[in-house]
Amino acid sequence: MASCRPSILTIVIISIIFLIIFYLEYTLTPQIALTSNENNILESNSTTIPKQKPKQTSSPTPNPTQITKPNPKLKSKNPILKGNNNKYGPIPFREKMECDSYHEKKGISFKQLWNWSPVHIFIGIWTVADKFEIRNLIRTLNKMQQTNLIGDKVDFKFILGVPPEYTPELKSQLTLENKTYGDLIMLDNIENMNHGKAYYYWKWVAGYSDMQYDYVVKTDDDAFVHFQNLALNLRPLPRKHLFYGYEDPHLYVYGRLEVLSIDQARVIAASSFNQTEWDGPEDHCLGGWLLNHVNSTLIRVSENCLIFNDPRNKKYRFTWRPWASPNSIVIHRLKEIPAWKGVIDLYISKNH
Ligand SMILES: *[C@@H]1O[C@H](CO)[C@@H](O)[C@H](O)[C@H]1NC(C)=O
Ligand SMILES: *[C@@H]1O[C@H](CO)[C@@H](O)[C@H](O)[C@H]1NC(C)=O
Ligand SMILES: *[C@@H]1O[C@H](CO)[C@@H](O)[C@H](O)[C@H]1NC(C)=O
Ligand SMILES: *[C@@H]1O[C@H](CO)[C@@H](O)[C@H](O)[C@H]1NC(C)=O
Repeated sequence: MASCRPSILTIVIISIIFLIIFYLEYTLTPQIALTSNENNILESNSTTIPKQKPKQTSSPTPNPTQITKPNPKLKSKNPILKGNNNKYGPIPFREKMECDSYHEKKGISFKQLWNWSPVHIFIGIWTVADKFEIRNLIRTLNKMQQTNLIGDKVDFKFILGVPPEYTPELKSQLTLENKTYGDLIMLDNIENMNHGKAYYYWKWVAGYSDMQYDYVVKTDDDAFVHFQNLALNLRPLPRKHLFYGYEDPHLYVYGRLEVLSIDQARVIAASSFNQTEWDGPEDHCLGGWLLNHVNSTLIRVSENCLIFNDPRNKKYRFTWRPWASPNSIVIHRLKEIPAWKGVIDLYISKNH
């Protein structure tokens, strides 16, 4: 019966192996589940931001979005983010930027900005027709920012040209989106970043009938604009003749954030379209137009500290900053949806 002994031993060993596998499987399962929830945070558009819900609903029905809340016990561990997500860690963050803002250079601290009277701002976010997901994300973030504003008022719309290939399918998608949110503006010309969209945008903004704003802004869908910080930094500035942003030595401001006082937009709108003047990078064109037509009255304010490229992305060294701070106005070059998670963690989730 010598052959029996090894058989029993084999069975025991196999059993032990099975027990170990079962144990590992069991203990690892919760962590795997959490990881995939974390991944979903940014994929599932409006469920991204947990804060908006409580305002709308007082019903005790458990909200399915709550499953995206990280388990606090596991939160201290680094969530393992799959796919694209592992390219983007948190955004480096410190209480103070390594540079001084326009106002700080003049001896006005960030806190003192609250002493000036509030402003009304309109922001046009340039986008193109098929970027549904990023619009959903920005829309949700911005609505939350609006509800948290103190004193100031900031409105926003998405600015599109007519898509060059405007299929019936795309049209019905946009119609549905706009029926739901009412925040799409289609300018009266074919989509083109650098061949006149700027002129048509500023003209539209100046004539926008609801418009009772001090300042009108152009930004892009790869830039996070901190509404309260923008408003605070504009509060002490002139309400007329203003041209504000990160200024290039050639007297234009970079396209990630162009701020005009409303009177300035009206001056552009009153001019007729000149193809030569509006052909080229839109930010150069705006700067060039203002230089040629209103230079003597224009008040240029350059904010070169608080408007910058994503600190995580060293590829964009130019206008890059090593970290963000509570006072930052614009973080630019958020080229993919996962890149926005760091922004949400810094400015949206932590605020509450
Ligand atoms: C947003 O999310 C909801 C639910 O997750 C989904 O039904 C809807 O299609 C999404 N919208 C877009 C534009 O991704
Ligand atoms: C979207 O809806 C708003 C509000 O109803 C409307 O003013 C605007 O013209 C619409 N935009 C498009 C592109 O249809
Ligand atoms: C258009 O702009 C160019 C460049 O500033 C200028 O030379 C030209 O006269 C303008 N054309 C008209 C019709 O104003
Ligand atoms: C325009 O104004 C700026 C200062 O605001 C000045 O430095 C520049 O020389 C002016 N340019 C022209 C063409 O007048």
